[in-house]
Amino acid sequence: MVTETTAVTLRPLGQSSLSVSPLGLGCWQFSRGSGIVGRYWSNLKDADILDIVRVSLEGGMNWVDTAEIYGGGKSEEALAHALDQLQQEGSLHAKPLIATKWWPMLRTAKSISSTIDERLTCLGGRSIDLYQIHQPFSLSSIASEMKAMAGLVKDGKIRYAGVSNYSAQQMVEAHRILQQYGLTLVSNQVKYNLLHRKIDENGTMEAAKELGISIIAYSPLQQGILTGRFHKDPSQIRAVSRMRRMQSGLDEKSLARSKPLIDLLSVLAEKYRVTPGQIALNWLIHVHGDTVVAIPGASKVRHAEENIGAMSFQLVRDELEQLNEASWAALK
Ligand SMILES: NC(=O)c1ccc[n+]([C@@H]2O[C@H](COP(=O)([O-])OP(=O)(O)OC[C@H]3O[C@@H](n4cnc5c(N)ncnc54)[C@H](OP(=O)(O)O)[C@@H]3O)[C@@H](O)[C@H]2O)c1
Repeated sequence: MVTETTAVTLRPLGQSSLSVSPLGLGCWQFSRGSGIVGRYWSNLKDADILDIVRVSLEGGMNWVDTAEIYGGGKSEEALAHALDQLQQEGSLHAKPLIATKWWPMLRTAKSISSTIDERLTCLGGRSIDLYQIHQPFSLSSIASEMKAMAGLVKDGKIRYAGVSNYSAQQMVEAHRILQQYGLTLVSNQVKYNLLHRKIDENGTMEAAKELGISIIAYSPLQQGILTGRFHKDPSQIRAVSRMRRMQSGLDEKSLARSKPLIDLLSVLAEKYRVTPGQIALNWLIHVHGDTVVAIPGASKVRHAEENIGAMSFQLVRDELEQLNEASWAALK
């Protein structure tokens, strides 16, 4: 397993001045088991969160992704607490770039500006480098939401604006509106991995490349399936919540369909002396040049150790293509 870091090459996030590592740390897992979506994961202890954050940042990740809805601010607070600790320890990695998100459901664009101070407080007064609209369903139009985001940039409350779960058309519209304020849409955070390729088919990837918008791939390991651990030991499926099983397609029939892909991940893993999960992450951050960055989540420090190792090598074009084909075959 590759865990040591060689220097990680940073890449620009969209057309912003932010330079990010190809992988950032997903912080949904820090929701403390609370709130609408926070119950999805188990309640992690402070010490585990600190270790996960430390290993990830010291291992070469220079950014983190959290959200208001992850425990109603609890993930942001847990992250801030861990960063405070790192700062006290004198760590050189205590100041990552921070991406968080506003939750739009049943709210209007007005709440973007009325809740921003709460976000900043949860983050312990740290600045927000990328503020994202979590998903497209709200009581306001994209135009009013982008106007509010532009207002936050102008007021110095956030540095850049992004969206999440937007379709190609919604993403293009958000970008066009931000341009009227002299800004650009920096990123669209969407589900993307070897077992979930919707954005390759619905025009989102193509439009993102054309407009210079970064794709932030969430659930990059298909919530653990691409590590091969459920193929190896299907009894682990029972330990996973029904909601997660449904969202990730975690059942024996789907596992049988993805088996040839997992086998190929294992063959390449052996060649590079890494793990199948590291191969899956490496594919994501290289197959589309610099367009895709990914945010694996971790609930154990060994996950974080393993995930950062995916930035220490590079699959060659022929291998990226083989995986591409095996991925489409698994999705047929
Ligand atoms: N914008 C959105 O709507 C949206 C939606 C979903 C996620 N996200 C963001 O994306 C991040 C990542 O997505 P995700 O958490 O859904 O999926 P993921 O990163 O694909 O999977 C994370 C889970 O996979 C398992 N895992 C991770 N690394 C592993 C390793 N090296 N070996 C074995 N198992 C490993 C762990 O499961 P166990 O905990 O069961 O061990 C972990 O909790 C989130 O933290 C969040 O920041 C955004």
